[in-house]
Amino acid sequence: MPQVLIVYYSHGGNTKKMAGEIARSVEAAGCQVLVKKVDEVTMDEVALADGLLIGSPCYFGNMAGPMKAFIDDSIKLFGKGELDGKPGGAFCSTGGIGGLGEVALQSMVTAMMIQGMVVQGVRKGGHYGPLAINEPDERVLTECQNYGQRFAALVKRLAG
Ligand SMILES: Cc1cc2nc3c(=O)[nH]c(=O)nc-3n(C[C@H](O)[C@H](O)[C@H](O)COP(=O)(O)O)c2cc1C
Repeated sequence: MPQVLIVYYSHGGNTKKMAGEIARSVEAAGCQVLVKKVDEVTMDEVALADGLLIGSPCYFGNMAGPMKAFIDDSIKLFGKGELDGKPGGAFCSTGGIGGLGEVALQSMVTAMMIQGMVVQGVRKGGHYGPLAINEPDERVLTECQNYGQRFAALVKRLAG
């Protein structure tokens, strides 16, 4: 069974709720899931995963510092291309409309593309990935479920 690693940072619990909802959906769709706080994950775990999802609140129009530190640390996997060709995706909680949550999501997705990852976009919904305004409401939880399902399908296809 392919394994999906979900790495998140959350101070107030909003992004954590999204991680939990996505994890349940990925698991229901037939992947093994490992959910890790960003300061507890190792690069060995990242390298072993068949797919990687990352989640962060929007801080000052970008991902939060701990998530950026994690991404910078992933340079360790860059040389050998250990993430190259693997599915990736991102989710985010922001404080309000116009608060730049989309920009934060875009910068997480961009980092994954620089690693050569295959990013799951969204046609119907937040195009860069699930985006909550503060606590995820029913609409966002449904987006998280749909995203988890589609992401698991991609992982299964590519891990095939
Ligand atoms: C240091 C800091 C910076 C923030 N910057 C922004 C911001 O630029 N735009 C925004 O919409 N919300 C901003 N917020 C609000 C958070 O993104 C929002 O409360 C989010 O839901 C927190 O997620 P969490 O509960 O997972 O920690 C900021 C919050 C903090 C603490």
